[in-house]
Amino acid sequence: MATTILVGAQWGDEGKGKIIDVLTESADLVVRTQGGNNAGHTVILKGVKYVLHLVPSGILHQGKVCVVGNGVVVDPISLCEEIDGLEKLGIKVTPQNLALSETAHVVFPYHRELDAQREVLKGRQKIGTTKRGIGPAYGDKAARVGLRLLDLVQPERFAAALKTRIKENNEVLKAFGAKPLSYKKVLADYQAAAERLKPFVTNTVVLLNQALRQKKNILFEGAQGTFLDIDHGTYPYVTSSNTTAGGACTGSGVPPNRMDRVVGVMKAYTTRVGEGPLPTENAEIADMLHAMGREFGATTGRPRRCGWFDAVAVRHAVMVNGIDELAVTNIDGLDTLETLKVCVAYRAAGRQYDYVPSDAALLAQCEPVYVELPGWRQPTSAVKRWKDLPAKTRAYLKALSDLTGAPIGIASVGPGREQTIFVK
Ligand code: IMP
Repeated sequence: MATTILVGAQWGDEGKGKIIDVLTESADLVVRTQGGNNAGHTVILKGVKYVLHLVPSGILHQGKVCVVGNGVVVDPISLCEEIDGLEKLGIKVTPQNLALSETAHVVFPYHRELDAQREVLKGRQKIGTTKRGIGPAYGDKAARVGLRLLDLVQPERFAAALKTRIKENNEVLKAFGAKPLSYKKVLADYQAAAERLKPFVTNTVVLLNQALRQKKNILFEGAQGTFLDIDHGTYPYVTSSNTTAGGACTGSGVPPNRMDRVVGVMKAYTTRVGEGPLPTENAEIADMLHAMGREFGATTGRPRRCGWFDAVAVRHAVMVNGIDELAVTNIDGLDTLETLKVCVAYRAAGRQYDYVPSDAALLAQCEPVYVELPGWRQPTSAVKRWKDLPAKTRAYLKALSDLTGAPIGIASVGPGREQTIFVK
């Protein structure tokens, strides 16, 4: 395996959690490199459902080292709750199996409050964020006023720095007409979390590069998806980190020339949570999937917007991430359909596009150009081998591979580990 970067090739929620879990079998270390607890990775293990937000899902496997890299933003309170939840389910979390980067930035209650207030101010233009404070936390990092885990775990330094940050942010909150925060309360809550997390906080850049020298296998688990990337996504309807493959390098301190392969995860159709353009959105597919109990967000429970497979978008993702291999998930979600549409180009203002336009307003006007493929109308969720998939399913997947320009390495027909087909 050596080093593998796993990215979402669509708008997030591609089923990365399950693929990460499958690939973790052959990894020694599993690393998060961006985002925060806005992510929700669902893993079903021996019938038990785990939803992880910040802790890499490698934690569910014995003997794996999980790393929260420097590119992540950490809400310490919510991380402590996540660790408690795992321990309640019998998963031991110790500094031996979880390392937190000392340079990861900390998410504070004022970030969450500002996230919510800005959304209200935007009104109909809102992004539909997860309200976890992610944008304001990355904003502080870029503005060089953020506090990092290394600050959090030094009590005196932290108390002084927090005082300044609360003072400034309370002014901003007041301008929004929101309630100011109590310095004392935030300090007490964060000091308690700091004490709990201190043993986990370390220099993960050194740790990871040591692991590389020892020829360990490392899996970089991406959160969110390509079109939520702050640079390459449908800005401003994006998250605030680099969700594309390059983010795995900057968010971990592992250099690009040490990365061996990029796996892109995509659904056999398209979904998105939150606002922003989604060219292939289709109410009938959404109704069908929701009626099946599928496509509700793992973090916020919101119903996801759904649509046909968008080959233009994934081809773009293959380009931006350098995807070597695709993992296609949720194939079984299409089992009942008679005809499947696949978007092969966009049309807007008399022009045809074979790539994703940078302007979200233009993308919102794009009409998809579809090709139609026959549905297989057979259950696929019990299939274990590629050759046992219905011929029409294989033809559909082959078409997705041809249209996006990357081979399919994994076909997933359900949430369980055993519902994974490795394509030779
Ligand atoms: P934020 O990351 O909470 O700021 O939200 C920005 C946008 O990214 C919103 O449209 C969210 O719905 C979306 N988003 C953030 N995290 C995820 C995720 O893990 N899966 C899918 N969408 C996400």
